[in-house]
Amino acid sequence: MTQIKNNIKVSVPEEEMEKQREYAALTKSILHARNASKQPLAFVRTFGCLANISDSEQIKGMLMDMGYVLTETVEEADFAIFNTCAIREHAEDRVFGNIGALKPLKQKKPQMFIALCGCMMQQEHIVEKIKKSYSFVDLVFGPHVLHKLPEFLYTAMNERQNRYEISQTDGLIAEGVTRHRDSAFKAWLPIMYGCDNYCSYCIVPYVRGREKSRKFEDVMEEARALVALGYKEITLIGQNVNSYGKNMYADIDFSKLLESINAIEGDFLIRFMTSNPRDCSPRLLDTMAACEKVAKHLHLPFQSGNNRVLKAMNRGYTRENYIELIEYAFRVMPNLSVTSDVIVGFPGESYEEFCDTLSLVKQIRFTSLYTFIYSAREGTAAATMQDNETREEKVSRFTELTTLQEGIARDRTASMVGKTFRVLCESENKPGSGVLTGRTQGNVIIEFPAALKHIGDYVDVLVTEAKTWILKGIPVNNR
Ligand code: 5AD
Ligand code: SF4
Repeated sequence: MTQIKNNIKVSVPEEEMEKQREYAALTKSILHARNASKQPLAFVRTFGCLANISDSEQIKGMLMDMGYVLTETVEEADFAIFNTCAIREHAEDRVFGNIGALKPLKQKKPQMFIALCGCMMQQEHIVEKIKKSYSFVDLVFGPHVLHKLPEFLYTAMNERQNRYEISQTDGLIAEGVTRHRDSAFKAWLPIMYGCDNYCSYCIVPYVRGREKSRKFEDVMEEARALVALGYKEITLIGQNVNSYGKNMYADIDFSKLLESINAIEGDFLIRFMTSNPRDCSPRLLDTMAACEKVAKHLHLPFQSGNNRVLKAMNRGYTRENYIELIEYAFRVMPNLSVTSDVIVGFPGESYEEFCDTLSLVKQIRFTSLYTFIYSAREGTAAATMQDNETREEKVSRFTELTTLQEGIARDRTASMVGKTFRVLCESENKPGSGVLTGRTQGNVIIEFPAALKHIGDYVDVLVTEAKTWILKGIPVNNR
C-alpha cells in the first residue's frame, strides 16, 4: 500500500457517486415513461485536447446509463452536448459557430435538450455571453463537475429551466464514472488533472484548476483492467504528466508509475501526453529507455527558442536546458522521435527572437511540430502584455517556421524508407480502400494494404515510400 501525504482528500466521496447513479436510474425511468416505444438519442461533440476526448467518453458512458443511444447526427438527437475548448480564440469561435447553428433546430424541435460543458464553460464572460445570446441552451457546466451530469440533467428536465453550473472549486477526482470507450484497442487513461505551471499565455490552470493526481492504486487497477480486456495501446494523459504524484506521495512519481504499468504482463504499448520540460528529468528519460513497453516518442513542447521569451512565458527553463534534455534523451534512446509545440507571435517577440525558435528547430530536427499563432486569453498574464506586431507579420513568421519544419519532416520520413516498423492497425484510411492506417512508435502515420480484420492487431510494416507527413508500406511476416 502506498501512503498519501497528509491525508489529502483526492476523490469525490462514494456516497456522492452513488447519488449520481440514482439520478441516472431516475432519469432513465422518466425518459422511458415519456416514450416507451423509442430509445432517446444523444449526440456528443468534442473540441480540444485528449483531456476533453477522455471526458467525452465519460459523458457518453453516463448518457448510456441514462438510457440514451448515441447518434452521430445532431438533427435526430433528443439530447446534444458540446464539450468545449478554450485554448485559443479560434477554438472558441468554432464552438460559437456550432452552437449558433443549433438555434433553428431547437426552434423546430423545442423538446430537444442542449448542453454545453468543458473548459470554455468555466469562464464567466463566456457563460454571460451564452445567457445573453444563446438562451436556448438548457444546461451549462464546467469540467470540475462532469460527474454530476445525471443530477443536472434530471433537475433541468424536471424544472424546465435553464441551468448554469459554474463551480469555482477545483473539484475532487470522480472515480467510478461509467466510460464508453471510443476504441476497443486504444485507451486513454487519465492520471492527473489540472496544471500548476501558470505559463503566462495559458488558460488551462484557470479552467482546469490546480494539479491533482489520481491515486496510484486507481490508475494501476484501470491499467490492469485495460490490458485484461485486450487493449493494445494505453495513453496516459494529463496536462502535465511529469508531475504525477507531486505533493501527494513521497515514494511515487511519474517514473515509478511508468515502471509499474510497464511491469503488467501483456503485449501493449504505453504512450503519454503531455510533458513539460520543467519537470522532465533525466531519470524519466532513463525510465523511458529501460521500459520496453513505453513508446520511444517524447512530445515535449518548447514553445520558444529564445530565453527572454521563455522567461516572459514563465516556462521555467532555458533554451540550453531544453537542448541538454533532448541531447540526453537521444543518447539513451537513439531511435527516439521527438515532437513539440511552438507559439509564434508571443507579445513583444521580435524577429530576432523568433529566429532563435527557427535555429532550435534546425538543431533538434523534430519529427513533427504543432505550431500556433499566439492568441490572447482573457485573465492570463500575457493578455495584458504589450503586443505591437501585426497579424500579417505573425502569419509570415508562422509560414517561415512551418516551411522549415516541412523540409525537416520530409528528410526524416525519407530516412525511414526500407525500414520495418511494428504498427497497430487503427482504421481503414477510406471506406472500401483496403488500405489501413496506423502509427509507428514515434507517432508517424503509415498506410499499408491489409484486411479489415487486422484492425486492432499489431503488424510489421516495411516502409516503401515517404511523403512529407506520412509513410506508405507493405505488411511483412504477418499471420
Ligand atoms: N495561444 C496560442 N497557443 C497556445 N497554446 C496554449 N495556449 C496558447 C495561446 N494562448 C498552445 C501551446 C500548447 C498547446 C496545447 O497549445 O503550444 O502547448
Ligand atoms: Fe482546450 Fe486546454 Fe481545455 Fe484541453 S485543457 S480542452 S486544450 S482548454
